[in-house]
Amino acid sequence: MSKSDLPPEPKSSDVTPEALYDGRREFIKNTILYLTTATAIGGGLTYLTTRGRLGPGATGASNQPPLPGDLPAASPTTPPTETTPASAATAPATSAAAKVNYDTDEPRTAFNDISTYNNFYEFGTAKSDPARNAHTLKTKPWTVEIDGECGKPQTIDIDTLIKLYPLEDRVYRMRCVEAWSMVIPWRGFELRKILERVEPTSKAKFVAFTTLFDPDQMPGQRGHSIHWPYVEGLRLDEAMHPLSLLAFGIYGKTIPNQNGAPIRLVVPWKYGFKGIKSIVKISLVEKMPPTSWNLLAPDEYGFFCNVNPDVDHPRWSQASERRIGDILKRTTLKFNGYGEQVAHLYKDMDLVKFY
Ligand code: MTE
Repeated sequence: MSKSDLPPEPKSSDVTPEALYDGRREFIKNTILYLTTATAIGGGLTYLTTRGRLGPGATGASNQPPLPGDLPAASPTTPPTETTPASAATAPATSAAAKVNYDTDEPRTAFNDISTYNNFYEFGTAKSDPARNAHTLKTKPWTVEIDGECGKPQTIDIDTLIKLYPLEDRVYRMRCVEAWSMVIPWRGFELRKILERVEPTSKAKFVAFTTLFDPDQMPGQRGHSIHWPYVEGLRLDEAMHPLSLLAFGIYGKTIPNQNGAPIRLVVPWKYGFKGIKSIVKISLVEKMPPTSWNLLAPDEYGFFCNVNPDVDHPRWSQASERRIGDILKRTTLKFNGYGEQVAHLYKDMDLVKFY
């Protein structure tokens, strides 16, 4: 896809000046910004997993940890950038990334923010929990099973999988349903490549994804906040869309455990929770598969979950969002700004009904 196919960037006029928080001088530190963002939406997803058992401060945002000390050293082939502290960089995820496509020129979110402000309920419900706890996840050996309605089902070791296709760097916006957003430089390859490899049959209509289930490694799975394992799904045409990515890296380095190592899904026009982490199974299926947040709160989360400023969440507005690192809110764009590429997938659908 050429540059001219890219969606328009959010303009500075999209920023809503009157949306300054009360006491904005207090918002100089990102930690406090995080806390307020989560509080403003009533605790967001955490509210559901804890059903009010934790107060707003339980998002953990007021207690940002330093980068986990156990992250490996910087790759010699990809020097750390200003926003990629050497201590944060990990071993090379990959061979050199292929040509960059689909990039946004918006400023990238700092690696420190991407890797310390997370939703990964297998490691706790607070935003800072995954960075603190996900070191217990063993990402090797790791296999991904691809099965279901396909001619060539297979189980592929992660080291083989990562080398099957040239890796690309893609800088995507990520809009969380909790009304915050980031700009993340992923490294991976298009999901459709692996789906084409297993040759879907004519019965394949959806793709179902499953996260590892191992309460020894994932302490959050010992509780019942979510029906474990975490599951997600896409319609086949969504999964085959070139924007849908399987990511192995961030900032050109191996993806940190807390961001979904060793392999996660990225679907930039949908709310961030569709981006299932630490995937062990990808199944081609005939019927719409269950998804974790829909199982937990069907009145709040449907199957499609396209970013849509016109359809409010029952507990907060989706019209605007706070980019992590910014003070002012900005207008949320339909399909997270990727409408030119994906709106045709939904042309006959009522997106209020199919939220
Ligand atoms: N995948 C699993 N397995 N478990 C989770 O709790 N959280 C989702 C999604 N993928 C989640 C998951 C949610 S709610 C969001 S917003 C994104 O991951 C957050 O990704 P990030 O922490 O890399 O920003």
